[in-house]
Amino acid sequence: MTCTAKYWAVIPAAGIGHRMGASIPKQYLDLAGRPVIDWSLHLFLDHPRISGAVVSLDPKDDFWPRTAFAGDPRVRRAEGGAERCHSVLNALDLLSGGVDAADWVLVHDAARPCLRRDDLDRLLDTLSDHPVGGLLGVPVRDTMKQVGEDGRVRRTVPRTDLWHAFTPQMFRLGLLRKALRAALDKCSLVTDDASAVELMSLEPLLVEGHADNIKVTRPEDLALAAFYLRQQEPLC
Ligand code: CTP
Ligand code: MG
Repeated sequence: MTCTAKYWAVIPAAGIGHRMGASIPKQYLDLAGRPVIDWSLHLFLDHPRISGAVVSLDPKDDFWPRTAFAGDPRVRRAEGGAERCHSVLNALDLLSGGVDAADWVLVHDAARPCLRRDDLDRLLDTLSDHPVGGLLGVPVRDTMKQVGEDGRVRRTVPRTDLWHAFTPQMFRLGLLRKALRAALDKCSLVTDDASAVELMSLEPLLVEGHADNIKVTRPEDLALAAFYLRQQEPLC
């Protein structure tokens, strides 16, 4: 079973980008000459181990058809939901129509365009025989403070075992679908996929990646993402 399992990318791209404050959703903003989502998708579709992708989109999304991979036969379109977790679950439901529950899915934010190929390879290599799955992340660098609503520091949180959770997050299709359904049944709107798996008392593996795998969230992140992409490879 393990030897024949395939790998699928799941790209939640149905958000509105409220914190970005742009006139269009942030996944369609121009980043070094291409829409953000094109950068986020190309690494998966150029990878020999990835069989295809499902992109979750707002049903009224008019931008997607103008992107590079909209007509790619390996890419299917699922309906976005109210929260990221709904968008991911819709994509998994679509996939499960013709895909083995033991296949792997790699859930990757459309708004995370700077993923490095070597980080993706490390995730695939580290987890392909893992019983649970896991995610990319980086250790927290700064001192962490817990702050009250009044802005006053309550305490300093030890950071030695704290990590930033990134994507891709890689789990078996059947397990992640079950985990997300169970989380939503409990009205738990998990903000990442690993959280749903954790709620099943399982322990995903944290695989260390690079800190430049940022999620484009606020306006200043676009310039930073463009800088990181320039460092990684010459633009073509
Ligand atoms: N996403 C989604 N469906 C939603 C909300 C978010 O598919 N209902 C996607 C986003 O498009 C993004 C990823 O999940 O690729 C991570 O979400 P986030 O960075 O929070 O994006 P937005 O929700 O668009 O941004 P904001 O929270 O600032 O509105
Ligand atoms: Mg959001």
